[in-house]
Amino acid sequence: MDLEWKSQTVRIREFGQGPSVLLVHGYPLDGAMWSGVARSLSERFRVFKLDLPGHGENPAPAGGTMEDYAGFLEAVLTQVKGPAGIAAFSMGGYALLSLLRRSPSNAAALALVDTRARADDEAGRTGREAAIQAVRAGGAAAIVDAMVEKLLSAAGRSNEGLVERLRRIILRQKPEALESDLAAMRDRPDSVDLLPGISVPTLVITGEADVITPPSEGESMASAIPGARYLQIPGAGHLTPMERPGAVAASLAEHFAATLS
Ligand code: MLT
Repeated sequence: MDLEWKSQTVRIREFGQGPSVLLVHGYPLDGAMWSGVARSLSERFRVFKLDLPGHGENPAPAGGTMEDYAGFLEAVLTQVKGPAGIAAFSMGGYALLSLLRRSPSNAAALALVDTRARADDEAGRTGREAAIQAVRAGGAAAIVDAMVEKLLSAAGRSNEGLVERLRRIILRQKPEALESDLAAMRDRPDSVDLLPGISVPTLVITGEADVITPPSEGESMASAIPGARYLQIPGAGHLTPMERPGAVAASLAEHFAATLS
């Protein structure tokens, strides 16, 4: 599917047939982080594996705010038409919450994957500033080692193929896109107040060993969203869709099959 966004034609990779499911990536990544999950889901769903503006193959400028990413998600949803499921990972989840704040949408079921509703605290914002300075000076190479360490569990880090694929995704991101992500995450508002108002079926997933958005964050989000289910992926770090694509795909398939048909 092609979409016009900020005077650019953006290609959204699409696979399979069935109810529509959008997969939204996190920082410092692109849609390829969802490849294994997308392959599996495409047996039953029409899967859209998107790159946020400025990331991967998306030529549009990255806007530097979560609102801007939310606007892009809204444009994709509008073009997809009809009810759709959205699985949003980490920063993608922050963008999804920002979309829920700004407008009702045709999102009919949600999966919040390794993400949180709370805004950054002071220490978090200071860390974003340091990372912005690092990517300005040295691009993606300046943050790749630290991010691999934080995104994967110890077991994930010992899987050479996985580490290699992850490094390749991170290293191809443009410094401007990474700076946009960091500024957007630093400045995003707290979304805890939105959770009780979420009225579509929601699944919350976290990795057992997630050090960026720990299971306690996922559990507290799920308990604040009416009727939400919480699932912990044993042994996985933050990046559950790459560390455990089979388990994540199976739980998303079950959730979206029950809620979208
Ligand atoms: C992500 O995985 O999208 C980010 O690491 C989340 C964050 O830094 O808050």
